[in-house]
Amino acid sequence: MLVTLEGIDGSGKSTLHDALGTALADLDPVITREPGSTWIGDAVRRAIREQADPVAEALLFVADHAAHLSEVIRPALAKEKLVISDRYIDSRFVYQQVTLEGIVPDPLSWLRAVHAGWTIYPDLTILLTVPVSIALERTGKRDKEEHFEQEAVLTRVQDYYMQLVEEEPYRFLIIDGTLSPEDITRVAGETIRFRNEQAKKSKNKRK
Ligand code: ADP
Ligand code: TYD
Repeated sequence: MLVTLEGIDGSGKSTLHDALGTALADLDPVITREPGSTWIGDAVRRAIREQADPVAEALLFVADHAAHLSEVIRPALAKEKLVISDRYIDSRFVYQQVTLEGIVPDPLSWLRAVHAGWTIYPDLTILLTVPVSIALERTGKRDKEEHFEQEAVLTRVQDYYMQLVEEEPYRFLIIDGTLSPEDITRVAGETIRFRNEQAKKSKNKRK
């Protein structure tokens, strides 16, 4: 089963990701992330740092995703592992929808077309939502602000996440990111366990 964690910068994804590794240790999950689980991640980091051309940056995120699928996700799913990824396809659908606006016509359709046919959609996506002001307060404590971490960008990114939820409500679990890390981990962990059990049962029935 493929579970992804999404949310704006500072929503608490990395904190949850680390906590789930411990809380679900008995399920032996494959814990992974985008960008940066492959060597292409270095190029992505450089593109972000140097504010590369938005199309070049978008396609590097996509290239990292393709390599992530073939090197990590597909092999793990083939072994029927539980995979938990900190960011995945929806990050492109929301962040690059902002960065490609005015550069390609209808960025979301363009992004969907670029992924069509070869990507794997998540079984469950946990979306952490927080007021942008709180997210900025949290990330403000970091060393440097990336161009994605600006109020106007994050406000639109969070709106775009909510539009994805409207389109596919059954794929998403929304958790209030202002709850305590312990509560967030409990809700997310219990949901993943439940869905993982269900997925196993329906697979066994089909055998
Ligand atoms: P993200 O990976 O989404 O950018 P992080 O997990 O790195 O977010 O969290 C950003 C900051 O907010 C960190 O300093 C972290 O300790 C803090 N934080 C994370 N989750 C919570 C929470 N539920 N409540 C309060 N602070 C949190
Ligand atoms: P990430 O490493 O998750 O950020 P951090 O650890 O600093 O929270 O991602 C770096 C930035 O890249 C983040 O602002 C979100 C952005 N991003 C995209 O714009 N598109 C993508 O497809 C992905 C995966 C991330």
